[in-house]
Amino acid sequence: MLDSARWRMPFTGWYACDRTRKLRPDYAGATIARPALPIWTAHELRAHTMHTQESSLYSRLGGYDAITALADDLLPRLQLDPLLARFWAHRGADGLKREQQLLIEFLCSCAGASTYYRGRDMALTHRGMRIDEGDWAIFMGHAAATLSKLQVHEVEQREIVQFLQSLKGEIVETPA
Ligand code: HEM
Repeated sequence: MLDSARWRMPFTGWYACDRTRKLRPDYAGATIARPALPIWTAHELRAHTMHTQESSLYSRLGGYDAITALADDLLPRLQLDPLLARFWAHRGADGLKREQQLLIEFLCSCAGASTYYRGRDMALTHRGMRIDEGDWAIFMGHAAATLSKLQVHEVEQREIVQFLQSLKGEIVETPA
């Protein structure tokens, strides 16, 4: 989008951008070309750069809303599963909401967002629950179903599965 030739035009003053109302440099002869120049606020520029580079898993997945949709689909599957339900038995509604929010924050921050994760680390969180290999296999099955239902692309699916597997050693405590 940026045309280097435009940078050589002599600076002739300032004009108020129609959209942002901010002062922008004006260049002689640039009157016609000017509307085509991208005029970003710092926030817009950052968002645009993330989108263009599509570097982090977070941005490739679709950001906060997409990760929220993943957590919203996955957690009820786990909590309603006949074998896994025991981990959430008799837990208060607010505690469940808190866990859901922490899961979203955790996934966002691990996927490359600047979101701050306020929860505990995975080993400390799950220590003492006696999650075993069988539970883990069921969990991975539900995760796969969520990824497939939300039509996450294959490359990102693989990255997420790899990421989840990397946490297994911190979460699984006992053999099945
Ligand atoms: C079989 C697999 C799993 C089971 C049964 C399970 C179960 C639970 C339960 C019952 C809690 C609530 C703990 C509490 O409030 O004290 C919890 C919290 C949490 N889990 Fe898991 N979990 C599993 C796997 C995972 C995985 C793979 C992740 C990460 C991708 C994860 C992320 C979290 C987070 C972020 C919290 C909240 C941490 C906090 O309260 O500070 N869990 N999990």
